[in-house]
Amino acid sequence: MAELSPMSDAPTAAGEPGWATLQTTSGLTLRVRAEQPGDGPVLVDLFNHLSPSSRYLRFSKSMDDPDPQRVRQEAERLARLGPPLDMAWLAFVDSPDQTEAAVGAVRFFRTGPNEAELAVSVRDDRQRQGIGSALLSFACTAAQETGIQRLTATFRSENRGIWALVKRSPYPVSWRLEGPEVHAVMDLTAPRAA
Ligand SMILES: CC(C)(COP(=O)(O)OP(=O)(O)OC[C@H]1O[C@@H](n2cnc3c(N)ncnc32)[C@H](O)[C@@H]1OP(=O)(O)O)[C@@H](O)C(=O)NCCC(=O)NCCS
Repeated sequence: MAELSPMSDAPTAAGEPGWATLQTTSGLTLRVRAEQPGDGPVLVDLFNHLSPSSRYLRFSKSMDDPDPQRVRQEAERLARLGPPLDMAWLAFVDSPDQTEAAVGAVRFFRTGPNEAELAVSVRDDRQRQGIGSALLSFACTAAQETGIQRLTATFRSENRGIWALVKRSPYPVSWRLEGPEVHAVMDLTAPRAA
């Protein structure tokens, strides 16, 4: 759950402007900041820590052995998108073998005046530790602050992780099944669950 308004640039508990500190349900402390145009290498690092299965679920295409140059170009393209159409945040954790390791990313892309499409990924060795939930909650707050009323997520029905994550969204969700795909819509105008 976000402890700080994501759009705020007030200092966090750690005293760093532009950073938010989130606590996951598993007790992990995440440091989160907005993605910046120079974050291509961070996105590549995150991508390199996703299994082929997670890559497939996130990008809807097979990526067993992708061309590193293509990966770098795509990461740089994503990092450059930026607001107001694309809003993205990166989550970092310190671990014994890597300080400030990028462990997850959440973004939403405006698809209409009041609507945006969510995408979230957590590196495989950090999944199921509450990071996705913390990022989803954070993104919902950020989306609301920019006037978004509906946050949508489209994913393949076999994607148990995102399905479980969206089910635990702090806002009511409506679901539509369309062939192999699930369309979920979170209603950000409804009261937020505690
Ligand atoms: C989907 C994803 C972001 C979830 O992140 P996460 O950090 O593992 O999520 P959390 O730890 O917050 O888990 C939230 C809930 O979902 C459940 N969950 C997570 N992964 C699951 C899985 N593969 N199968 C079943 N339940 C799962 C957790 O148990 C938890 O439930 P709980 O609160 O009852 O314990 C992550 O699995 C991922 O990056 N997947 C690959 C990319 C992807 O599919 N992105 C979504 C499409 S854009």
